[in-house]
Amino acid sequence: MSTVSNKVAAARTVFDLHHGDCVAGMRSLPEDSVDLVVTSPPYNLGIAYSRHCDDQPRAEYLAWSETWAREVQRVLKSDGSFFLNVGASPANPMLPHELALLFSKIFALQNTIHWIKSITIETKSGGEISAGHFKPINSPRFLTDCHEFVFHFTKNADVKLDRLAVGVAYADKSNIARWGHTGGRDRRCRGNTWFIPYETIRDRQSQRPHPATFPVALATRCIRLHGQRDGLVMLDPFLGIGHAALAARACGVGRFIGFEIDQEYLNEARARLEIIPPGTARCGSAKPADEIELLPLFSKENRVVAKSKIR
Ligand SMILES: C[S@@+](CC[C@H](N)C(=O)[O-])C[C@H]1O[C@@H](n2cnc3c(N)ncnc32)[C@H](O)[C@@H]1O
Repeated sequence: MSTVSNKVAAARTVFDLHHGDCVAGMRSLPEDSVDLVVTSPPYNLGIAYSRHCDDQPRAEYLAWSETWAREVQRVLKSDGSFFLNVGASPANPMLPHELALLFSKIFALQNTIHWIKSITIETKSGGEISAGHFKPINSPRFLTDCHEFVFHFTKNADVKLDRLAVGVAYADKSNIARWGHTGGRDRRCRGNTWFIPYETIRDRQSQRPHPATFPVALATRCIRLHGQRDGLVMLDPFLGIGHAALAARACGVGRFIGFEIDQEYLNEARARLEIIPPGTARCGSAKPADEIELLPLFSKENRVVAKSKIR
């Protein structure tokens, strides 16, 4: 573990980013010191990370997962939130559920959120609107996987959330007056299906050089749902190229702590935050993903389709 921490204030957020193993790193943090953890660990699905071996025997992977989760539990405040993003694969369909079961020995599962990466909606007139990105699974047995989980763990399932900070407008405005709890506000709970497409990129090497990121918007939504307030301390033990850190800065989180075992990914995260130490290279060794992009919902093109079909 590097002994050099990089405490750099960018806008209102102080970034404390470390090169090294997150278990050792979290052990150096005081207990009850973190408000919010947003993270996505390696899923053990054989992804080609440059430093981490993503193909461990199942029992070892689960034992290691429990070790790092117990550190998260130790550093998390009693009113803190731990958002765990995890996905599955046809070869490993139970992984998210196994992790959720394992972690529910340590935390309470307060919410289960479905991160929808791509979706097709049938319109009333029989048309279809598709949006997002997906990696096609070419198989007569398995459906293409268009979603991942975000498990929201807390210590006692009693953490109050800022639901309306990530809320949506009522489709039927008459509900605003009809339902007392709205307080006259055109805002309702969004629910637990979050459609968040990846940003469209043209060149992975230069634009998103990491094989397994979540969108910055996913982390932003977790922060806002937990409730942004002054002095919030946020942690991502598996920083990757820093998308949780970018979200922290966008939301004005007070202090962000990150650990990443791969120096190149850490350099990339620092570059994205514009806190790269001079002379350090950005990384460019990620395996390209084979994703298909659909038209964004309600893009200009889709509006034209929707208009011509909905009478
Ligand atoms: C799924 S990726 C996280 C990507 C990140 N959410 C993003 O959007 O950039 C998991 C990351 O954990 C890192 N990693 C694996 N083992 C680690 C460990 N023991 N300590 C710290 N980081 C580790 C990997 O190098 C990889 O970059």
